[in-house]
Amino acid sequence: MRSLLADSRVTIRPAALPRLSAADSDGEGFRSLLTMDPPEHNTLRRMFIPEFSTRRVRAMRPGIERLVDDLIDKLLAGPAPADLVAELALPMSTLVICALLGVPYEDREFFQERSEIATRVGGDSESLTALLELRDYLDKLVTAKTKSPGDDLLSGIIVNRLIPGEIQHNEVVDNAVLLLAAGHETSASMAALGILTLLQHPETLAEVRADEGLLPQTIDELLRYLSIADGMRRAATADIELGGMTIRAGDGLIISLGSGNRDEDAFPSPDTFDIHRSARHHVAFGYGPHQCLGQNLARTELEVTLGAVIRRIPTLRLATDVEALRVKPDATIFGLHELPVEW
Ligand code: HEM
Repeated sequence: MRSLLADSRVTIRPAALPRLSAADSDGEGFRSLLTMDPPEHNTLRRMFIPEFSTRRVRAMRPGIERLVDDLIDKLLAGPAPADLVAELALPMSTLVICALLGVPYEDREFFQERSEIATRVGGDSESLTALLELRDYLDKLVTAKTKSPGDDLLSGIIVNRLIPGEIQHNEVVDNAVLLLAAGHETSASMAALGILTLLQHPETLAEVRADEGLLPQTIDELLRYLSIADGMRRAATADIELGGMTIRAGDGLIISLGSGNRDEDAFPSPDTFDIHRSARHHVAFGYGPHQCLGQNLARTELEVTLGAVIRRIPTLRLATDVEALRVKPDATIFGLHELPVEW
């Protein structure tokens, strides 16, 4: 899996990818990081890397802590049961990405709904329409910021890269679509499913509550165990010999990160949730040139959110049967529609 994801004979260009349905366009005509191969991809990625560095993300941490504390204050002041997706996980990740990119939080209903439809597995005409609506929305926002830049990531890219001519307007727009969608759905799903998993493992929960120093390794194990982003699509541009098989030039590839993360040669007893295993080599953030750009930010969001929930709501429990929870089976980012809890 890793050798394929890092192989220069493997492409991510939409025109070459396997189609999962007749209406599946998968970003054809889009100019985001997830539609380009190296070396073109490297040039673009280098422009965004500093925005997600460890130093930048460390500086964002106090702000994330404040907003998570405010959301938990509101949750605890409101009625129980409450929905942890709507009251905590989704507003947390959406507020963070809005502040970072400079996207108005008031528009959240519009872009949350469109992102969910646009990232459905296989795509259909409705998901293409949602993608185009998101693109139109961000096109207008990037145009407005070009006239009057603010103090945010998109304005920084406009002033430092777009105006000097290093990047095109449509590339700023398409990467803004990617960052906005990838930036809120993923962390929200992981936060909600992460809390659910800990509630299902009360001994581990008690252990982490007693020693918050265990949080980083708990988050790695959650990322491995849950593997919310799966089915990476690629295509071979030349014949590739791998594991005694030949992948022919032109063949489509669907690479399952979830299967890699449950590979018993890499993770003994892979179906067991065990925060004391060494899980750092999981592939939940992908591998190779397209490995997740937002992983430092995602780890911080999860550490802050899970840490605050564990510390501040010690009596937290599910307010429904696990079997009654509605999951998103057709989403490329796996998640829960809601997580009813009481305390
Ligand atoms: C726990 C949360 C997250 C998970 C599990 C996750 C997972 C992934 C995976 C598996 C990929 C690789 C896609 C591929 O190879 O086709 C990826 C790429 C990417 N992710 Fe994330 N992600 C998360 C959070 C975020 C956040 C918070 C952001 C932005 C703020 C983000 C931005 C991106 C971008 C821009 C790419 C494309 C990178 C490139 O092509 O160079 N992700 N992510």
